[in-house]
Amino acid sequence: MSRPRNDNFLRALFKEPVERTPIWLMRQAGRYLPEYCETRQRAGDFLSLCRSPDLACEVTLQPLERYDLDAAILFSDILTIPDAMGLGLCFEAGEGPRFARPLRDEAAIRALTVPDPDRLEYVFASVRAIRKALAGRVPLIGFAGSPYTLACYMVEGGGSRDFRHVKTMLYARPDLLHHILSITAESVVAYLNAQIENGAQAVMIFDTWGGSLSNAAYAEFSLAYMQGILERLHKTWEGEKIPAILFTKGGNAWLEEIAQSGCTGVGLDWCIDIGEARRRVGHLVALQGNLDPNVLFAPPGVIVREARKVLAAFGPGDTGHVFNLGHGISQFTPPEHVHALVETVHGLRH
Ligand code: CP3
Repeated sequence: MSRPRNDNFLRALFKEPVERTPIWLMRQAGRYLPEYCETRQRAGDFLSLCRSPDLACEVTLQPLERYDLDAAILFSDILTIPDAMGLGLCFEAGEGPRFARPLRDEAAIRALTVPDPDRLEYVFASVRAIRKALAGRVPLIGFAGSPYTLACYMVEGGGSRDFRHVKTMLYARPDLLHHILSITAESVVAYLNAQIENGAQAVMIFDTWGGSLSNAAYAEFSLAYMQGILERLHKTWEGEKIPAILFTKGGNAWLEEIAQSGCTGVGLDWCIDIGEARRRVGHLVALQGNLDPNVLFAPPGVIVREARKVLAAFGPGDTGHVFNLGHGISQFTPPEHVHALVETVHGLRH
């Protein structure tokens, strides 16, 4: 297998020379695109869309048809693993994810097992379909949630403001939370390695809730498990190096520790100056980020100005930077605003 025709994303992660700063957007396929809403309607609902490799492939490519993005990301969700473990995932319209059987008692926790890969085969089929449809245009990113972030949803049973149940477990019964995290980490290793074997050319771990932990708890309950995963991921596949990006939202206090975890790139939220991050860890890893997604609500002139601030903050010698938002793109983003961002990052706006 050879590299894609546009391999600037992979080059930036490995700090090889780039033709231009690559850009992709977290949640680039989503509800802000009318064509996504149309395909989701055809699928019936979000989970049916995830479970249909043809339709998941279709929505993965939609943002690439509109914008000159430098990477595609598998269309799926981080909650496919707990769903395959039997927790009973559903998405109620406008409500976010819900599990029918959250992990609240010791018996359920002790019964948890690594899911049968057959139950996730639809994800691997999507990866194969997307690689085929991309036909070597840009690299395909696979992903998974971090064990701690997945445990938040598994224990709370859905989204949460205060993480009351998972934090009670963390302090009162750390042994139970460690058990959930171990089984989940093992599941993530098998899941990401299978994505790589089926065609993912890079992987990203989303640690959306690691930033809600105390300093000591982050090291013990989130980073340690992500580090264990990174050690066990395929480093190369079919002769190509496979980079891994680690993104802890709210993790800027632990940048040095994250950069030493064995990842190739670190995803940054918008709360840190990317130049400061580069001075702290730029010798160890590439950086991905970090425009505030809310900038995209402002008129194009403002978007151009704010994107240039991020590029200038990263500074000269433009490899080692993958431009992205500091978190997922909002469903309320006007789609035409994204052009101003992509063109600015590619140096096409004067
Ligand atoms: O980036 C991409 O385009 C790939 C697709 C992707 C989705 N979810 C699709 C999705 C990725 C990478 C994710 C990751 C994900 N899912 C995370 C980590 C990243 C983050 O945003 O913090 C988390 C925490 C989840 C769990 C999840 N999935 C929640 C909390 C929600 C509801 C929130 C919302 O935006 O509605 C989802 C649903 C979801 N996942 C949607 C999409 C496009 C919207 C569902 C819809 O179409 O109705």
